[in-house]
Amino acid sequence: MNFTSNESVAFMSCAPFVSSPHDVVKKMLEVARASKDDVLCDLGCGDGRILTTAVKDFGIKSAVGYEIREDLFKQASGEVEKLKLMEKVHIFNKDLFQADLKDATLITLYLTTYANERLKPKLRSEARPGSRIVSHDFMINGWKPSRKENYNEHTIYVYSIPDAYSI
Ligand SMILES: C[S@@+](CC[C@H](N)C(=O)[O-])C[C@H]1O[C@@H](n2cnc3c(N)ncnc32)[C@H](O)[C@@H]1O
Repeated sequence: MNFTSNESVAFMSCAPFVSSPHDVVKKMLEVARASKDDVLCDLGCGDGRILTTAVKDFGIKSAVGYEIREDLFKQASGEVEKLKLMEKVHIFNKDLFQADLKDATLITLYLTTYANERLKPKLRSEARPGSRIVSHDFMINGWKPSRKENYNEHTIYVYSIPDAYSI
């Protein structure tokens, strides 16, 4: 089967682009206790706001984002340049299933329950022990969150690796 670029993106897409509101981004990072020792990876980073907020406001060590849509990748990369965060924030125009998670201590998700289900094997085999996964609104079915917070109409789930699946 042949796909044009846009068709490939539509085929691989795990979720539409809907940004986490800025206050929810801050809440996600607070609930996950983001700190200067963290290396964050946002799987489906949209306009990059989780990456830039984590570096600017939480002082994390570095942040990596994966975004399948080229227009959003360009927008996010432009924002990183505008904020002069190029040394700490790196964004790839790639499928999130190709993400390198080995250095990530904090993984952020705002996808769908179905996408989280598809991601489970990757998270289980690649997320390092001691890392946390924070998911906006969509749980990882069958995994036990170490924290769950309701914030306005939003729900934030934090999963600690490996306890989330080994308890
Ligand atoms: C709901 S938005 C969340 C954006 C950002 N993480 C936030 O919370 O503001 C989901 C993002 O994932 C991207 N996405 C969906 N499937 C993807 C895939 N297979 N690889 C990389 N990015 C993907 C979408 O283009 C969209 O920008």
